[in-house]
Amino acid sequence: MISESAGSVREAALKYLWMHNRSWVQTGEEGGPRVITGGDGVKVVDSEGRTWIDVNGGYNSVNVGYGRSEIACAAYDQMRRIAFYPVGTAIPPTVELCERLAGITPGTLSRVFPVSGGSEANETALKIARAHARRIGEPGRYKVISREGSYHGATGGVLWLGSSAVYRRQDFEPAYPGMVYAPQPNPYRCPLGGRTPSECAERCARAVEDLILFHGPETVLAFIGEPVAIPTGAAVPGDEYWPMIRDICSRYGVLLIDDEVICGFGRTGRWFGIEHWDVAPDIMTMSKGISSSYLPLGAAVVSREVADLFVGKDRSLAHVFTSAGHPVAAAAGLKNIDVIESEGLVQNAAEVGAYLKDQLEGMKADHPIIGDVRGLGLLAAVELVGDRKTKARLEDQDRVCERLSEKFEERGLLLRSSRGLIAMGPPLCITRAEVDEIVHAVDVSLWEVEGELGFPGNV
Ligand SMILES: Cc1ncc(COP(=O)(O)O)c(C=O)c1O
Repeated sequence: MISESAGSVREAALKYLWMHNRSWVQTGEEGGPRVITGGDGVKVVDSEGRTWIDVNGGYNSVNVGYGRSEIACAAYDQMRRIAFYPVGTAIPPTVELCERLAGITPGTLSRVFPVSGGSEANETALKIARAHARRIGEPGRYKVISREGSYHGATGGVLWLGSSAVYRRQDFEPAYPGMVYAPQPNPYRCPLGGRTPSECAERCARAVEDLILFHGPETVLAFIGEPVAIPTGAAVPGDEYWPMIRDICSRYGVLLIDDEVICGFGRTGRWFGIEHWDVAPDIMTMSKGISSSYLPLGAAVVSREVADLFVGKDRSLAHVFTSAGHPVAAAAGLKNIDVIESEGLVQNAAEVGAYLKDQLEGMKADHPIIGDVRGLGLLAAVELVGDRKTKARLEDQDRVCERLSEKFEERGLLLRSSRGLIAMGPPLCITRAEVDEIVHAVDVSLWEVEGELGFPGNV
């Protein structure tokens, strides 16, 4: 049994806990891990009693903010009523959640496979896509197009989608077969030389068509992307991109999988990110904001047209996770959706998100190191550069980011800068005053780091 005291929790963590994406020895040498004991809204408290702003709300996931006792009560009530269910039966909160998701997702998305996280949601989508190809008599379709720099999860199949730089994959070779990579429509650094967001969007969408034609449409199963790609720093594609991708997928019989694991549940100022472009995917995957991380939950929501092919003798999908659609998590998810609705958090994300972006934009005049400010709703990113005109990356990018992260910490922000980016995805209940606190702390931190490292214009 771990005692409550911070020291012993930290010690036990260093001895027993395998932390995400980091070495326990290095974590210990840096004085970590920090032990968190409470939270309210956008703030958390550590075991020393210090309050922090959690600028990325968990893993861009605590959409309604910390400390929602109504969600805890919903989970508690369900667990007291009945915590699980017998094989082959259904249970109210899980069914109700599916119905609710069918109601808020676009197009004919309506058949819901509930899961426990984003990786499971995307694995489920890939399996449905493969099984779908067989059911339409096109078993030769197995290739999946994802975008360079994207991330779609950590499990055996989906870890090969995208190529996020934060995720080293050499350890896990060989790759899942049929992974094909398309350029990322990042207007600030268009990989195809597009000079405007529209030009970049059109070139990157056409590149997807070229890939389909190059590989042969009869071999291509699906395309997967996030409406706004997070690992590249909230790069918002030009308006042409998603409608063109929808057309291209439809033309060649390629399923469009929309990964809303981060963008969903109000994050971008709409219920789902893809709605900014009026596009309905064939499969939508979701997690994080679905329960605001109060309990593990996710879903793959499938269009009627695709789901209908799984009806009939020997046509059902062989796919099960014991905890998928857990009724306690579903009850928490339903209450979480209630909170998002009743407090107008989607609208708040749109309004306060625009304010956050404006404030970050405002810092550009003082900080030549800022190359770009981008984002949508409460997804925002600042890209730091060595030269704003040429967009050359910072020479000493890692050191600058490390220094900045230390400065953020000194000012009470749980926020890390890496790969030349400062990326933010706070809870959707954030206020303008809290945005001001964050922006002020970032502003002062930039001044200090620029001064210490002798950046031109700031020495
Ligand atoms: C876009 C996207 N998809 C999928 C995942 C995987 O979700 P999980 O970590 O819940 O498995 C993530 C995780 O950050 C994500 O950002």
